[in-house]
Amino acid sequence: MNNYKINLPESEIPKNYLNIMYYLQKYLGKLPEPPLNPATMQPAGPDDLVPIFPMGLIQQEVCLDEFVPVPEEVYEIYKQYRPSPLYRAYRLEKFLGTPAKIYYKYEGDNATGSHKLNTALTQAYYNKQEGVKKIYTETGAGQWGSALSIACQHFGLECGVFMVKTSYESKPYRKVIMKMFGAEVDPSPSTKTDFGKKVLAEHPDSPGSLGIAISEALECVVKSGGTAKYALGSVLNHVLLHQTIIGQEAQKQMSIAGDYPDIIIGCCGGGSNFAGIVFPFLADKLAGKIKNLELIGVEPDSCPTLTKGEYKYDFGDTAQMTPLLKMYTLGSDFIPNPIHAGGLRYHGMAPLISFIHHEGLMTARSYKQEEIFQAGVDFAKAEGIIPAPESTHAIKAAIDEALKCKASGESKTILFNLSGHGFLDLKGYEDFLSGKL
Ligand SMILES: Cc1ncc(COP(=O)(O)O)c(C=O)c1O
Repeated sequence: MNNYKINLPESEIPKNYLNIMYYLQKYLGKLPEPPLNPATMQPAGPDDLVPIFPMGLIQQEVCLDEFVPVPEEVYEIYKQYRPSPLYRAYRLEKFLGTPAKIYYKYEGDNATGSHKLNTALTQAYYNKQEGVKKIYTETGAGQWGSALSIACQHFGLECGVFMVKTSYESKPYRKVIMKMFGAEVDPSPSTKTDFGKKVLAEHPDSPGSLGIAISEALECVVKSGGTAKYALGSVLNHVLLHQTIIGQEAQKQMSIAGDYPDIIIGCCGGGSNFAGIVFPFLADKLAGKIKNLELIGVEPDSCPTLTKGEYKYDFGDTAQMTPLLKMYTLGSDFIPNPIHAGGLRYHGMAPLISFIHHEGLMTARSYKQEEIFQAGVDFAKAEGIIPAPESTHAIKAAIDEALKCKASGESKTILFNLSGHGFLDLKGYEDFLSGKL
C-alpha cells in the first residue's frame, strides 16, 4: 500500500534545535567570518547587538554547542501544528512520468501558512523573557509579519510591521491577518520614519524592498528608548537555527519511508527555510555518515543573490544601520523588480548559506517568474495544494531534477521544502493565468 503522508506523533517534535556551526567547526575546521562593526571594522560584539536583540538570541548567534534546547513554552505551542507532514508526491511523479521519487515537507499547514512561525515564536519568547514591550519588523509577502504578529499575541507583546509596499498592495488580506492578531501595519517606504520619508522624497513611486523595510523597523527600535527590539524573519544564525526542526523531523519521516534523499531543494530568500530542511542532512554529510548529497538553493531571476551576487561584507539593510555581514549580495541599495514572490526580494543571503555555497557544499540556480508559476499550477493540479510563489521556486527545481531522471532512467530520491501555501497570493496566479505577468 502506498503511503502518501508520513506523520509523526507529537512526542517526536524535536526537543532541540541543531546547530550547524558545531559541525562546520568540528568537521570542516572553518566557520563563516563574523559580522563587523562598520565604524571600527572589528568583529561586532554583544554590545553592538544589545540595543536590537535580546541577549538570549545574541548568544545563539555565536553558540557552538551541537544542540540548543527548544524553550518549553515554545514547545507547547509547536504542539498545535508540529510535526508537519511529509508527503510523497505520487501524483506529481505520475504527471511527470518520472522514475524519481519526490517527497515534500509541507510547512504551510499552520495558523499563518509558512515556516516563519517556527522562529517567530522563539524570538517572541526571548524578547518577553527580557522585558521587551514591543517588537518591530519588516515583511515581504506578509508571511513573516503574520507569523510574528500571532507570536507576539501569544506572548503578550506589541508588534509593529513595515510591509514592503508592492506586497502591501497586491496581498491586502495579509495585512488584515496581522491586524486581527493585534499588529500595527504600515506600507514601506512609509511616512512614519525619517528614512521612509527620504526614500519617498527621492522615489515617490518606490515599490519598496526588504532592505528599506528593515531600515524603517530599526529606526523605530532606536527611537523607542529601549522599550522595543527588532526581529528578523531570516538571514541571521539564530533564525536558521530555529528552522532546523523542519529537517530533523524530515529525517525521521524519510527513515519511516525507508528512503534517504539524493537531492534536497529549497527556495532561498534570506535562506531560512532552505537551512531548515537542509542543515540536519548536511550535518550527516559533514560527519561522514553519508557520501552523496546534492543541495540546491533556488532564487528568482530578478533577485539572483547566490547566482550573480558578490561574496563580500555588506549591510543587511538599505539605510546601512546593521553590522556588516559577510554574504553573497547584490548591494544594499539593490531594489528588485516587484515580483509576486515578495519573500525572495532580499539583496543578501544568510552568512551561513553564503558560506556553505562558497565552500562548494551546495549549488544555486534561478528561474523566471513565468516558469515558477507554471510549476506552481502543475503542482497544484497534481497534488491539490496551492503553493506560495516563493515555494514554487523549489517545486520548479524539483520538477526539473525529476525530468532529468526521466531522461536518464535514474530513480533518484528528491526532497523539497514546501515552505508555505499560496491562498493569499492568488493575484499572482490570476496574473499568470490571464497572461498578464
Ligand atoms: C512561504 C515563504 N517561503 C520562503 C520565504 C523566503 O524566506 P527564507 O529564504 O528565509 O526561507 C518566505 C519569505 O517571506 C516565505 O514567505
